[in-house]
Amino acid sequence: MSGSPNQGTRSGIDKLADVGLATPRSTAAIAVFSVVNPASANRYDHAKCASCSTATPSSNNAAQPPAAVSITRPQPRAAGPRDPTSTGRHCRDCPYNRGMAKRRKQSVEKYHDRVAARYDDSYEDAYWQWHDEITWDHIKPHLPTDQRAPVLDLGCGTGKWAAKLSKSGYAVTCVDISRSMLERADTKLAEAGDTLATLLQADLCDLSALPRNQFALALAMGDPIGCSESPARALKEIRQTLAPGGVLIATFDNKLSALDFYLSKADPKTMEEFLRSGRTKWFTRDHDERFPVHTYTPSQLRNLLAAAGYEVVDMIGKTVLPMRHHRHVLEDSAARRRWMKIEKSLHRDDSAIGRASHFQVIARAGA
Ligand SMILES: C[S@@+](CC[C@H](N)C(=O)[O-])C[C@H]1O[C@@H](n2cnc3c(N)ncnc32)[C@H](O)[C@@H]1O
Repeated sequence: MSGSPNQGTRSGIDKLADVGLATPRSTAAIAVFSVVNPASANRYDHAKCASCSTATPSSNNAAQPPAAVSITRPQPRAAGPRDPTSTGRHCRDCPYNRGMAKRRKQSVEKYHDRVAARYDDSYEDAYWQWHDEITWDHIKPHLPTDQRAPVLDLGCGTGKWAAKLSKSGYAVTCVDISRSMLERADTKLAEAGDTLATLLQADLCDLSALPRNQFALALAMGDPIGCSESPARALKEIRQTLAPGGVLIATFDNKLSALDFYLSKADPKTMEEFLRSGRTKWFTRDHDERFPVHTYTPSQLRNLLAAAGYEVVDMIGKTVLPMRHHRHVLEDSAARRRWMKIEKSLHRDDSAIGRASHFQVIARAGA
């Protein structure tokens, strides 16, 4: 089991041996490429492969490997109205996959690759249903009115929100740093009948493989921006993919909810350092899998978003009631509805949101 000091959007926490703050790691650029689920790869052929159809065609319709990956990096299909002849997915032999540079995995990628197979199991109880209902209720009013508008699910994980978007009729592009997570998302989307989604393995700090100024909506749920090496950089990258006026809906860790954890260590120096940087880490037994978690107060979050060119339209605390520790009260469905009403009466209150473990933000990209 593993966790961050404030928890809430993820599963359980380790009994921690140490609380040292994360030391900065090198920010080697991650090669960007698409994922192919080996189990489903045969469903796709070159003629319908999103990469091959944008690569130089050859006589047998198979894609040519790029001469130099860094120069000939294949691009995903341009976002736009669905092309019924393309699956949007990528065949096993396309240049994307040949362009997969051998590289050292980042800790965040290692961790999520390892937990992908059991990820969904840890989110199947009354608490997470309640939590997901709050999340979706806050997303729904901001879905693009034009269903042909392309949308992004960033840090898509196993594709929970991508599948929701797909079922709501949108053409989804899923991005995640973890290939194992993307493979799960691919399966989930296929099971939901989506043969059009694009899946892309990429670091949020480098979204150069995505088309610019195209997407009407980007979701980043489960705090992937704060778990990147540079949230400021990730936010700028995301803004470049959004159409003018496009909306980012993202969750972030609340800095204040980690205070108890640092206090329990009885070391003022560690607390001071945390308060100064806002940076902690995801604690898990294997030190190679510990990744940075950037946390914010509401005002710091507003400043971060403004500096990256967004206007904050709405922010809620998620969740203000510490339901995670009182799951049993959600088992009765009538009581659940009442707890939901109480939560919603508090989650926009400026002072109450300081209690929440996370924030969910609606931010509009400036022109
Ligand atoms: C807590 S999971 C949330 C998954 C999904 N959005 C959900 O709400 O169920 C965070 C996901 O973000 C991905 N992620 C974390 N840091 C990332 C980064 N820098 N670039 C791309 N994906 C990242 C992880 O691999 C993981 O799948």
